[in-house]
Amino acid sequence: MAAETGLYDGCNDALRDAFLAAGGQALWHETYKGTDIGQDFMDRFGCFCLIGEGGAFHSDRMRAWMVYMPPHLHYRWHHHPAEEMYLTVAGDALFMRAGCEPEVLYAGDTSTHASNQPHAMETGAHPIMAYVIWRNGFDMPPKLTDSLSALPETVPVIPAEVSPDPSALRGGQ
Ligand SMILES: [Fe+2]
Repeated sequence: MAAETGLYDGCNDALRDAFLAAGGQALWHETYKGTDIGQDFMDRFGCFCLIGEGGAFHSDRMRAWMVYMPPHLHYRWHHHPAEEMYLTVAGDALFMRAGCEPEVLYAGDTSTHASNQPHAMETGAHPIMAYVIWRNGFDMPPKLTDSLSALPETVPVIPAEVSPDPSALRGGQ
C-alpha cells in the first residue's frame, strides 16, 4: 500500500495520508486466513486494526479498521453479526449489499450493513481505502457467504437515509 499512488480524491486527504503513514508500523490482519478465499486475495487485500485487538486504541463498544484494496480485486460475499459502516476515504469501488442495488462509492460516501446482511465489493481501475467500523456482535469474525439463497430471505436493511448512531463513532468508552 505504501507505494500506492492511485488513491485519488480530495475530501479526506489528511486521513488517507495518516493511514498510509501508519501502514509501516501497523499489525496487518489476515482476516480470511484458513478459508478458501484464495492466495491472490490474501496477497492483495489489506486491513489493519485501529480500535480493537492489534490496534492502537481499545473500546468495549466498537471496532475500527483501515481497509485497502488495489485495482481489480473482488471481495467475495461475506457476512457477520456486527453492524458495519464503510466510509470511503479515497479511491472508489462497487459496493454490493443483499437486498439493495449495487452502487459505486467515492471518497466521502458510506455503505452500511445490517447484522448478517451479506455484502461484497469490487475495485475497477482504481484502488480504494476505507475506514470501517463495527458495533454489536464484534467478537465474531466475518464468514464467506457460500450461497445467498441459503441465507434468510428477509435481511434487515438500514435505510439509506438513516445515519448510523453517532454515539457508536466515539471510541474509548
Ligand atoms: Fe463486512
